Order: sequence, then C-alpha cells, then structure tokens
Amino acid sequence: MKNFRGWINAAVLLAIVLAATPRLVYALDWTKVPGRNITLFYPAQMSWEIMLSQAQHTGANRFKRDKTCRQCHEGEEVASGRLMVADKVLEPAPIAGKAGAVAASVQMAHDAENLYVRVAFAPGTQPDAKQDPKFEAKVALMFSGANIPEVARGGCYAACHIDSTSMPLGDKTDKTMYLPASRGMITRNGGDFVRPPFQLEALRAQGKFAEYWQAGLNAGAKPVVTAGSVFEKRTEYPAPAVSATATFEKDTWTVTFTRKLAAGAPYKDITAGSLYTVGFAIHTGHTHQRFHYVSLENTFGIDLDLSDIPVVTAH
Ligand code: HEC
Repeated sequence: MKNFRGWINAAVLLAIVLAATPRLVYALDWTKVPGRNITLFYPAQMSWEIMLSQAQHTGANRFKRDKTCRQCHEGEEVASGRLMVADKVLEPAPIAGKAGAVAASVQMAHDAENLYVRVAFAPGTQPDAKQDPKFEAKVALMFSGANIPEVARGGCYAACHIDSTSMPLGDKTDKTMYLPASRGMITRNGGDFVRPPFQLEALRAQGKFAEYWQAGLNAGAKPVVTAGSVFEKRTEYPAPAVSATATFEKDTWTVTFTRKLAAGAPYKDITAGSLYTVGFAIHTGHTHQRFHYVSLENTFGIDLDLSDIPVVTAH
C-alpha cells in the first residue's frame, strides 16, 4: 500500500513537472529558414604560413593589408579544389578519385534559449580512404568573435599551420590546430614558440580562443558529437554542451547542431548584436586530418543585418 501511494505521488509530481516545463522538443520548420549555399574545397597542404608568403601566394600582401580570403576567392572554390586535390606539390598523398569540392547549404536559427545550425551536403561518390575507421563522414564548424582578427578575416586558415600533424613540417604525433595569438612568434616554419602558461591563461580569459563542434557520422547511427576549443592546441571539452541530429536520405546528409546561447564557461556566449565568424569542415570517405573539405569564412550574428548567414528568430 505504501509503495502504491509512492507511485501515485511520483506520477502526480511528474505530471506537474511536465505541465510546468516549456515544450522541450522544438519543431523548427527548416523549409522556411533562408540559408546560405557555400562550397567547401579540398585544401591540400596550403597553410596559414603559405597564405602570408607573397612568394607562394599572390593574395598574401593584400590579405595582410585589407582583403579577406572570401573577398578574393568566393566563386573560385570548385576550381581551387580541383587544382589542389590533384596537385602533387600541394598534396603529396592524393586520394585517387576524390572530388575537389562539396556543396553545402547552411541554415541558422535561434530561440530564447538555443542556437541551431543545420548543415546539408551531398558527398557524392567518395573513395574510401580508410583513414578513420570510426566515421564515414564528419561535419565540423569553428567560430569566434571579432576579437580574433585572424579568424574574423581568414576563418579556419587561422588554425591551419605548416607544422601541424599531416602538414609539410608537422610531426607525426599530435600537433593539432592552433591560433597565431597563442604563439610568441610565427615564422615561415610555423609557431614553435608557444606563449608561457600565464600569458595563455590571460588571453584565454579574454576569449581569444575559437570554439569548435563536430559530429561524427555513420548512416543509420546517431551522430557522435564533440566540442572544444582551438587555442594553443585543440582541446576537447569533457562533456559536450552541443547536441546533434543527423539523417542520410537521398545521398544527402542533414546535420542539425543545437547549443544553448549561454552554455556557461568555457563555451562562448552567443549574444544578440555580436558578430561571429564561422568556418565549416567536412570529412568524407573515412578521412581524417587535412584530407577534408573546408569553407571560406562566413559571419553570423543574431539581430544583425550584416550576417552572411541569416540567423532566423524562431518562436
Ligand atoms: C587579393 C586577393 C587574394 C586574397 C586576399 C587571398 N587570395 Fe588566395 N589566391 C589569390 C590568387 C590570385 C591566387 C592564385 C595564384 C597563387 O596561387 O598565388 C590565390 C591562390 C590561393 C590558393 C591556391 C588555390 C588556387 O586557386 O590557386 C588558395 C588555397 C588560397 N589562395 C587561399 C586563400 C586564403 C585562405 C586566403 C585568406 C587567408 C587568401 N587566399 C587570400 C588571391 C587572393
């Protein structure tokens, strides 16, 4: 009898809690959300250091002076990708039959609590590179605010260096992506001079790190989400505050990330009126490391007309 009363109490309590909880599952109508079509291209071994070298890259001086990568390269992604995926100098380990670019549609929305980012792409025929046995595809994004000019103007390239693993001067262990500001100096050989911990900590406190989210994908399985920061290295957060859903239908992956606008430190606050720069990366055909497709930089911001990717308000 006592147990029975306990059950009734628990059921009543549950009913009260459910009634008081705002709708947990938010059905956003993505067909009504305007997106942005972007083309991700195969980057081979072209690094930040090469981008800044006028001898190796025609755009170097203009990039340093005023122009962003996208201002020169938007519309050229397919041609650039085709060039780099098969160029033996830029790509010493080409994957036979790999496409040079992948088109994606990116949509963003927010409500009072969350930011939603939806990425849809059709990988096409992708040779199995057998590099990452765990996932047939991965989709990732990296973003930061305007306080990191290298990311704001160069997107993911700010994190891509000549001395990282799988890059020309990289060691074979795990020298991951890193941001220029984490180094005392960047030379043509990359950034060996990591700032001392007290400086890194002070810069971290100023939010000088980028945040990344990634979903590991296998058709028919739940996506595996990781999140973390890129600063002096890539650091995965222990429990991701980011969730994702994914479907693979008619040759197209559709991945939707959800994260609270204010997810608490170490996550970046996503606030209305602030401009962020985001870059996307897609691994296909069981690839890892540099063997992915990357986007040029795009901005987003809540309640900001100048957002490249519109962030729709959902009610
Ligand atoms: C002022 C215009 C300009 C800017 C700014 C610029 N580039 Fe370039 N980029 C070029 C030109 C022109 C080429 C082709 C000739 C060469 O390789 O130098 C090129 C070549 C490249 C290539 C090799 C593939 C290809 O199509 O030739 C890549 C990759 C690239 N740029 C990426 C970037 C990135 C990333 C940035 C920003 C960090 C950037 N560029 C900034 C003009 C620019």
